[in-house]
Amino acid sequence: MSENKINKLSPYIGWMVFFGCMVAVFVVGIITAQLLERKLEVGKMTMVLKPLDSMEPDNEKYKDNYPREYDSWKRTEESEGATKYGGPTQFSHLEKDPNNIKLFAGYAFSVEYNDDRGHAHALEDVTKSLRHKRNHPNKDKGKDFPGTCWTCKSPDVPVLMKQMGLTNFYASKFWDLEDKITHSIGCADCHDGETMNLRISRPALREAFAAQGKDIDKVSHQEMRTLVCAQCHVEYYFKGSKNYLTFPWKNGINIDEIEKYYEEENFTDWVHPVSKTRMVKMQHPDYEIFSAGIHAARGVACADCHMPYISEGGVKFSDHHVQSPLKNFDNSCAVCHRWSKEEAVARVEKIQDRNFELLKRAGNALVLAHDEVGAAMKEGLNDKELEPVRSLIRKGQMRWDFIAANNGMGFHAPQECARVLAGATDLAQQARVELAKARIARLQKKPAKKI
Ligand code: HEC
Ligand code: HEC
Ligand code: HEC
Ligand code: HEC
Repeated sequence: MSENKINKLSPYIGWMVFFGCMVAVFVVGIITAQLLERKLEVGKMTMVLKPLDSMEPDNEKYKDNYPREYDSWKRTEESEGATKYGGPTQFSHLEKDPNNIKLFAGYAFSVEYNDDRGHAHALEDVTKSLRHKRNHPNKDKGKDFPGTCWTCKSPDVPVLMKQMGLTNFYASKFWDLEDKITHSIGCADCHDGETMNLRISRPALREAFAAQGKDIDKVSHQEMRTLVCAQCHVEYYFKGSKNYLTFPWKNGINIDEIEKYYEEENFTDWVHPVSKTRMVKMQHPDYEIFSAGIHAARGVACADCHMPYISEGGVKFSDHHVQSPLKNFDNSCAVCHRWSKEEAVARVEKIQDRNFELLKRAGNALVLAHDEVGAAMKEGLNDKELEPVRSLIRKGQMRWDFIAANNGMGFHAPQECARVLAGATDLAQQARVELAKARIARLQKKPAKKI
């Protein structure tokens, strides 16, 4: 072969070698990526060693099949390390915001109102509560709880609902079920034990969706990562004498729609002893508030922050230590936000400080309104004169409580929380104006005194 011919061919050979290498690198890349993905998949779909029943309530039975999820779930027992407004410690809301004592006067929440802690403590905390008649410091006070109160505490609940029938479960007495409920919030509350698919185990959420004309079986997988939490982290009440657990969502899930619902039902939890106003106690509308925020609008789920994916030895799984995301910053916020931990915590606390300030202002106005109605009653103003005032207080306190009872101190939807608290303050002040008018009208009706 002449030197000339080689020179003519060589550019082609060069290109062929180049493309050959490209293809080889590409193929090796694809294979490696697939292997890695496969490893993660295998990690995710941990081999099932022991087949489990679809409703298996015993968390311990899941341990061998899903050791990583089990171990992280177990850590919900931890109770150290408060954050500024949350964390797993059990502080008293009565100490943190004394308005609670006056606003819940005449109701068990003025006796004891502790902050929530990890899921592992649910049974201990519900049975030890001083709000029960059995534990109440003043034995004549306090109410007997209905069986319905167990609904959000244990994976034994769906089993009992099936055995007893739903209405009988709700209508039962709290202490009658004490021995039958032994496992704290766990696997079968959120999963089908057989397939480990996420599952809605509580009928109340299913029924609340149906009441709004929505089918909960048609939601996306990402929505399920929020809805498993919405089985318990919502506003609810016990409907009728049989204590049927109901979410007040028929008209929608914001406070205006929920207020409309309670007014239509003419529902009352207790009568405030100072102002004789018929009150509604809000529970913990975490899902409702969260739904009004930026994260929900952008398709972020509760699990993205509270149960983020973590890796252990190349295996990716969901962190089942459900807790304040501020204690798990690297796996939660940092996945989506390029902020330092210091900046993120500062941003969250700024939102929470502002919310707490608005909450206190609304609470102060409501306390004044209750006290002034009490004073007006002593002056002799009657129920007819006071009814419009009480109605404003009722609606105002519903709003204050909607934010006070919701977890996260405003973080989940800062603007919505500010709107609702502005409404609470406004209604409380309107009540005070109406009361002043009623007093003046009363004075004008009296014959003028001779001077
Ligand atoms: C974008 C992230 C994010 C999402 C999504 C999110 N949260 Fe939170 N959540 C937070 C932060 C931040 C806090 C405040 C934690 C603190 O104060 O220590 C919080 C607080 C809480 C708390 C109180 C925790 C404590 O330590 O006292 C509960 C309960 C809670 N969230 C439930 C939910 C539920 C239920 C959903 C879905 C409906 C949800 N969260 C969605 C970030 C999130
Ligand atoms: C409060 C609800 C909740 C509880 C309680 C719970 N899980 Fe999960 N689990 C989830 C969510 C949400 C996911 C994420 C599912 C997804 O995105 O597909 C998950 C995922 C899983 C997965 C799939 C792999 C992974 O880690 O993402 C397994 C296995 C699992 N959980 C096992 C358990 C076991 C075992 C328990 C009890 C010890 C348990 N879970 C308790 C909500 C829960
Ligand atoms: C079966 C009902 C139930 C389900 C389902 C449930 N929770 Fe809870 N959650 C509770 C109860 C009850 C508590 C309070 C326990 C206590 O204080 O003893 C609680 C407490 C919490 C706390 C406070 C933890 C702390 O350290 O202060 C967070 C955060 C939380 N839940 C988030 C979630 C998220 C996120 C989901 C969904 C992935 C979820 N929960 C699903 C009932 C539930
Ligand atoms: C799964 C992704 C994801 C996670 C996890 C997440 N966020 Fe976000 N966050 C978003 C998106 C998307 C937005 C909206 C951004 C937009 O539309 O401009 C947002 C917006 C915000 C905003 C409002 C920013 C502004 O001023 O407009 C704050 C504050 C915030 N996130 C804090 C947090 C904190 C704190 C955490 C952890 C507890 C967290 N986020 C976790 C995706 C996430």
